[in-house]
Amino acid sequence: MEIVICSTPEEAGEVAAARVAQVVKEAGPRAVLGVATGSSPLALYEGLTRRVEEGTLDLSEASAFALDEYVGLPAGDPNSYAATIDKTVTVPLKMNPANVHVPDGAAEDLKQACEDYEAAIKAAGGVDVQILGIGSNGHIGFNEPSSSLASRTRIKTLNERTREDNARYFASIDDVPRHCLTQGLGTIMDARAVVLVAQGEGKADAVAALAEGPVSTMCPGSILQMHRTVTVVVDEAAASKLK
Ligand code: F6R
Repeated sequence: MEIVICSTPEEAGEVAAARVAQVVKEAGPRAVLGVATGSSPLALYEGLTRRVEEGTLDLSEASAFALDEYVGLPAGDPNSYAATIDKTVTVPLKMNPANVHVPDGAAEDLKQACEDYEAAIKAAGGVDVQILGIGSNGHIGFNEPSSSLASRTRIKTLNERTREDNARYFASIDDVPRHCLTQGLGTIMDARAVVLVAQGEGKADAVAALAEGPVSTMCPGSILQMHRTVTVVVDEAAASKLK
């Protein structure tokens, strides 16, 4: 695991963008990105957007698979991860919407939707570079503490801390969905490279547990210690509890 400590959140975004752009170029025009929502990767997406606008990165034939989606939000809800990915990834990175996939949290048969999602990732040739944030409780995707380290895409219950963390996007905590579909830890571990970004003091415990704690279901991000090609890009505040 390579850990890069940057002076500011903006610098962390730029360093992470450079790493993702490098992997995408190595993978070729049909590269497959794994994409996260949330605030952590926004500066990274800005760095990629700048490269696309300058013409040094072309994602027009690339594909993307989002990590997760809420269950139970109406189609088109601005808080759905499908809407968020469209706004922060598909449009600014000039990707073909047909190539950008999000688990279907509105499917009638959620279990089938999870199986279909796994099959679609496989059919695309697997993820070349997975972009991740980390929750304050150590979750990656919505794999909350105690998630199986071998898990695949499935339905999960969001824990209260995650619902509180995400309530900032909703009118009230009561509006935050209780369930989600998420790629499993096993799914994430299949990506050929991983770039995780974390900024701010609120992530310091999670970053320390991820990088220096035991590999444990209680910090799902710690499974990344078992991955061969992980870059963790943090600002000084998020790095403050590393030994
Ligand atoms: C988002 C996701 C989550 C977030 C994590 C951090 O698709 O799967 O694991 O990466 O909750 O969220 P932020 O970046 O908003 O602090």
